[in-house]
Amino acid sequence: MKQEGLKFYRCNTCGNLFLTIIDPNITPTCCGSSMEILEANKVHEGAEKHVPIIKINHDEVKVKVGIQPHPMSAEHRIEWIILTDGSSVNIQKLSLTSEPIAVFSGMKRDGKFRAYSFCNIHGLWTSEK
Ligand SMILES: [Fe+2]
Repeated sequence: MKQEGLKFYRCNTCGNLFLTIIDPNITPTCCGSSMEILEANKVHEGAEKHVPIIKINHDEVKVKVGIQPHPMSAEHRIEWIILTDGSSVNIQKLSLTSEPIAVFSGMKRDGKFRAYSFCNIHGLWTSEK
């Protein structure tokens, strides 16, 4: 097996998330259908409300989504934030009552951190620091 980094798959029926850290060379299925692979947005439109911003403070890493506030409503929200340091993957699921911010602690900083955020309408966004 070849290490290819994180891959995200989403079920378009139930919204389930499937995350692989090593490419399994399969397409996962959910609710009887193949899951959609999520590719990070490469467009600039909407980036100000979606790109995760990584702030490192000693052994604590704060990830805030966007330089402008993103809505957190049932119709339009950030569902989760993921932070990886290359050897561990941390996921924080967000609720409608939370701000689109996640704080992670105890992560190593051997290389770069990579953060991912997922908007239920505008998809997957990523950044690194
Ligand atoms: Fe959005």
